[in-house]
Amino acid sequence: MNARTGHRLTTALKGLLVATAAALGILAATAGTAPAADPPSGGGDALMGRARELFKPLPATLPVVRNNAVTREKIDLGKMLFFDPRLSASGIFSCNSCHNLGLGGVDGLETSVGHGWQKGPRNAPTVLNAVLNVAQFWDGRAEDLKAQAKGPIQAGVEMNSTPDRVMAVLNSIPAYQAKFADAFPNEKTPVSFDNVAMAIEAFEATLTTPAAPFDQYLEGKADALTDTQKAGLELFIDKGCAGCHNGVNVGGHDYFPFGVVAKPGAEILPPSDKGRFAVTKTADDEYVFRAPTLRNVALTAPYFHSGKVWDLRQAVAVMGSSQLGATLSDQEIDKITAFLTALTGQQPRVDYPLLPASTPATPQPVFK
Ligand code: HEC
Ligand code: HEC
Repeated sequence: MNARTGHRLTTALKGLLVATAAALGILAATAGTAPAADPPSGGGDALMGRARELFKPLPATLPVVRNNAVTREKIDLGKMLFFDPRLSASGIFSCNSCHNLGLGGVDGLETSVGHGWQKGPRNAPTVLNAVLNVAQFWDGRAEDLKAQAKGPIQAGVEMNSTPDRVMAVLNSIPAYQAKFADAFPNEKTPVSFDNVAMAIEAFEATLTTPAAPFDQYLEGKADALTDTQKAGLELFIDKGCAGCHNGVNVGGHDYFPFGVVAKPGAEILPPSDKGRFAVTKTADDEYVFRAPTLRNVALTAPYFHSGKVWDLRQAVAVMGSSQLGATLSDQEIDKITAFLTALTGQQPRVDYPLLPASTPATPQPVFK
């Protein structure tokens, strides 16, 4: 029996007990008032029960990563690589340039700016909790973080490097060779482009944000959410937001059209970016995007793949009309937004790594 059915059973059982007790007049007699329909148990309430059916608290433990045994050595190396701008051709951009870990794992730009000051086509999603997403990128085109990491290093508008150049950089720095040998023991060629991706993935797996007020609530702490946030949670469920943003990551696990009921204007949904259509070439996937995780969403403006919306309240309103055909009132928007702020978790504490010095053999930065 899994936790979900277990929970449903206890709820049913509780209902039965309350009904029986009420029939015998026990509750009314002892409490002197009418029995509550669903009395708190372990700090719980009816809303908490409903929330537990739809969401899961984010575990404080390291998530399991498919096909990559995460070790301390890999994590340490991956952290260095995440912060090392020498993975870019110009020596200017590191992963952290666009996924700033002091800023919720994003760059705070409409769309990212990379090599040669070029503006990319999409807003940078956060790397926080990305390990829990079903696949990576707005259109899910990379199946996991190790596949993902090779993309930006080579993308012309991002880091504009090549696997050969990255190998030349890392092999020119003895301290990196030693770190790769530690992280990938018993391998014939520890310094490889694949292993760069494996190490970065291992580090990214540590970038989870547990213990948000909402997690504490799901774990039974009824007063972890304010009354306004609870009202927002109720609306989030009742209006249908939770139909697409649910599970442990409050999203991140499935694809939906942006504009299920009504397409947002071209300003927010530029016609040129057809989303998942580019991956599957299926007409049904035109303007389909992964429903993003809403964890830490209060930290990651601007919103949507186009990055055109700067105010979280406006993003909520757009979702109401485009995905649900509902015009949310100002009060409803305020409450839902208050709930979304309860999804901000403990940010990972990352010490800036010391990076080993380049040598005369290290390829020099190129700007064109
Ligand atoms: C110039 C800015 C830039 C740099 C540098 C950059 N990224 Fe990104 N990153 C982006 C953008 C923009 C996207 C979204 C692209 C898309 O969906 O098509 C993205 C997407 C991602 C995602 C997917 C998250 C999700 O929820 O789908 C991850 C993970 C990620 N980047 C990690 C990295 C790593 C690791 C590096 C370094 C090797 C890196 N990025 C370098 C801008 C950047
Ligand atoms: C039918 C599925 C669906 C429903 C229902 C839905 N969403 Fe979304 N949501 C999405 C998708 C898909 C995106 C990504 C859109 C894009 O940028 O391409 C998104 C994006 C968002 C964003 C922007 C996040 C970011 O990081 O940019 C917020 C905030 C959001 N949704 C909140 C809500 C709220 C609040 C509701 C209920 C009023 C809701 N959503 C209902 C699918 C849905």
